[in-house]
Amino acid sequence: MSVVSGSLKASRLCIISSEAATEKASRWATFLNCPINPPNPEEFFFHLFIENERVYVRDQERRLLEIDFDKNHLDYERKGHRGKNELIAKALGIAKGCHKILDLSVGLAVDSVFLTQLGFQVTGVERSPVLYALLQEAFEKTQKESLRTYQLYYSDSLNFLKEKKGQLDIDSIYFDPMYPHKKKSALPKQEMVVFRDLVGHDEDAAEVLKEALTWPVQRVVVKRPLHAEQLLPGVRHAYEGKVVRYDTYVVG
Ligand SMILES: C[S@@+](CC[C@H](N)C(=O)[O-])C[C@H]1O[C@@H](n2cnc3c(N)ncnc32)[C@H](O)[C@@H]1O
Repeated sequence: MSVVSGSLKASRLCIISSEAATEKASRWATFLNCPINPPNPEEFFFHLFIENERVYVRDQERRLLEIDFDKNHLDYERKGHRGKNELIAKALGIAKGCHKILDLSVGLAVDSVFLTQLGFQVTGVERSPVLYALLQEAFEKTQKESLRTYQLYYSDSLNFLKEKKGQLDIDSIYFDPMYPHKKKSALPKQEMVVFRDLVGHDEDAAEVLKEALTWPVQRVVVKRPLHAEQLLPGVRHAYEGKVVRYDTYVVG
């Protein structure tokens, strides 16, 4: 298991642990290959705070990123959704009996959690080691029944797709890579700044999609900004919302 992503050098990260969370902190320090409570924390760009009840990241500007599925700060409990009529559900083929989803880009798991809320069974893959740590802790801590069966993998999706082909029972694949921001708009929320700094750009997205299209699934769905170009040609149907689009490639 490799623990250094392209966008995060180990020297940029240290763990700040409370005394009560020493064991948990040392497990993550091994996984992330970074020091715990170093004498010079100000020299590290990211601080991963590990406490008994909370795990979160703060950057040098004190911007904070936390994943907690039981709090709603990142819209983990969507009220008033339209169930099977949600665009994402239609795109993934809910009406065609597609139920088991592979999410190749878990990120903050906003989409993954929504999919479980809509009744899908989800397996997710994330390659950022810090994101994986935050996600893993959030899945362990959550009280949400719908997340009990969620399966999270730490891997690059390209490798995952190559290694697991034919081994998993999946109906549709979902992919939401980072989209390069060409112009600066309104300042994003502090979480989004930390998130972007942690994960960087997903420049290999087309390659991942190409591999996904070789899987024996019914559909592969790519989330794009509404007016963005297609990641690869061959979109069978584009489900358009107000700001995003779900490009559906029909495979099986
Ligand atoms: C735009 S975010 C996804 C947001 C997510 N859909 C959500 O609802 O929170 C992209 C995420 O996918 C991850 N990612 C992108 N390409 C990946 C790949 N090839 N393998 C694993 N993770 C990937 C990035 O590290 C990042 O966390």
